[in-house]
Amino acid sequence: MTEHILTANDFRIRHMIKSDVDQLQAIELDAFPELFPPTSFLKEYSKPNSTVLVAEIDHNLIPIINGETSLKLARTKYRKGFTGWNSGASFITGMLINWLMAEENHIISIGVRRGYRGLGIGKLLMNYLIESVITNSSNSITLEVRESNFIAISMYKTLKFKIVGKRKRYYSDNNEDALIMTLCFDQQQKSTNAHI
Ligand SMILES: CC(C)(COP(=O)(O)OP(=O)(O)OC[C@H]1O[C@@H](n2cnc3c(N)ncnc32)[C@H](O)[C@@H]1OP(=O)(O)O)[C@@H](O)C(=O)NCCC(=O)NCCS
Repeated sequence: MTEHILTANDFRIRHMIKSDVDQLQAIELDAFPELFPPTSFLKEYSKPNSTVLVAEIDHNLIPIINGETSLKLARTKYRKGFTGWNSGASFITGMLINWLMAEENHIISIGVRRGYRGLGIGKLLMNYLIESVITNSSNSITLEVRESNFIAISMYKTLKFKIVGKRKRYYSDNNEDALIMTLCFDQQQKSTNAHI
């Protein structure tokens, strides 16, 4: 059998469901190992102003390595390689958390599993959010990003986010500054895009 090469077309974006929690925790631990305390995804699920998007793929498309599926590398929570995946579920490779506050969208977190980066999943998640913002009542999306995180900054720039400010010593683990990046929609843009 020829090996299937994964592309962005293999991934779908949807809103989280409760049974995604273990996989979401594993993705967060992989993308933000320094984060403490970890996010309560069940809490995010029940907050009316929070949206958690996930990128999923059919588990049958995940490669078999040495006769074993690579979906369950470690079976115990918090062990290196724990994926949080359970038989029958789709495999989640990325997540995005957005809060809608006073008609402003704020991206709280976006992360993709290490082995699945560079395939377009980050952009798929971002574009899904951008499309949904076009149809809601807010006019902007804002986020903070570490000044040294050139991959994320490059992704936001390709999506037309602009650097609008800086928060000094925003990250307590190393006192790094955060860049504030914003994507603004004017009303005309919203009505044009809404008819695409
Ligand atoms: C940032 C992150 C979410 C990007 O996800 P991803 O699925 O790898 O990104 P994509 O494949 O969709 O690529 C999107 C853009 O990111 C940039 N990018 C991705 N990989 C890159 C690399 N290795 N080098 C430079 N730029 C890169 C490019 O601008 C790319 O756009 P392009 O394909 O049009 O050139 C992912 O790297 C990640 O989870 N990082 C750890 C957590 C993190 O830093 N989150 C952001 C916090 S603000």
